[in-house]
Amino acid sequence: MNFIFTYMLPYLPKWFSKPFAKPYVAGETTEIALSHIKKLNQNGFSATLDILGEYTSKVDTARDVTYQYCQLYDEINNRALECTISVKPTHVGLSISDSEAIRNMVKIAKKAKEYENFLRIDMESSDYTDKTFKIYKECKTITKDVGVVLQSYLFRSLDDISNLADSNFNTRICKGIYKEDKSIAYKSKEEIRKNFLLMAKTVANKGGFSGFATHDQYLIDRLLDWIEKDNISKHLFEFQVLYGVPMGGRLEELVSKGYSVRVYVPFGRDWFEYSIRRLKENPNIASYVLKNLFKR
Ligand code: FDA
Repeated sequence: MNFIFTYMLPYLPKWFSKPFAKPYVAGETTEIALSHIKKLNQNGFSATLDILGEYTSKVDTARDVTYQYCQLYDEINNRALECTISVKPTHVGLSISDSEAIRNMVKIAKKAKEYENFLRIDMESSDYTDKTFKIYKECKTITKDVGVVLQSYLFRSLDDISNLADSNFNTRICKGIYKEDKSIAYKSKEEIRKNFLLMAKTVANKGGFSGFATHDQYLIDRLLDWIEKDNISKHLFEFQVLYGVPMGGRLEELVSKGYSVRVYVPFGRDWFEYSIRRLKENPNIASYVLKNLFKR
């Protein structure tokens, strides 16, 4: 059912698809997105902003997106928002060339440094993992306040932590959203969860910081068991969720207990292509969206 629905969606009118993307996208303009961030901040959540888009094929577009990200740092600073920025490497040129992506991401990193803000480099499919680490290392020469994402479905991620992590390391750990081959990635829910926890513990042992990016309540419980049992300092982690995903009051509960929670807020005109691609990569998302839609 999810599968059939997902494949039909691109052929249906855009107005029909909009409700399916809407809960997850904070509007099409910077102004609207920033007003959502302000509300999140007022409710005790920090945020990270992402301009929707990926796999940019033209140099001019990649440079324009880079400019928009730099302007976003200006706006975040002007409005004193508790908000960082998350960038997909292919959005700023990695699907064009390594050098284009490095040039643009370094520009964004310099802007982050200017405001003592933070730059998160999202992780895309495994074709881009090594290239993304290369970009990350370049940005790290500009500012210490840059971090990369690690995916717990990949066999390689623990080794990546060994190679990259120290007390200055700042990562987001997530399960991973792309379709990867079983020769390089765990497929079972349990193994992915187990690796997530192991990665979290390994980063903490090295004194690094992790954003635990998950909506999986079971996994959040296991993370909390470990955090409480081992008395892990609150300076070493935060919880992260995607904008619009229903969490049944869990986030407010975490904040009330003194934990930091950051919301990943995507916005922009590219919501349609982004949502369809995400749905095709993971048709299960369609069922989340349908459930949300009918709950409203
Ligand atoms: P799981 O998929 O098991 O979901 C747990 C529960 O959460 C589900 O039962 C459902 O109720 C709910 N849920 C999950 N996703 C939902 C959705 N979209 N809509 C409605 N309900 C949903 N991936 C990646 O490859 N690179 C990256 O850079 C990032 N960045 C990132 C940032 C942040 C802040 C988050 C939260 C996630 C990412 N991801 C990502 C995506 C991540 O890898 C993963 O695919 C999703 O978070 C779904 O996995 P969960 O851990 O939430 O568990």
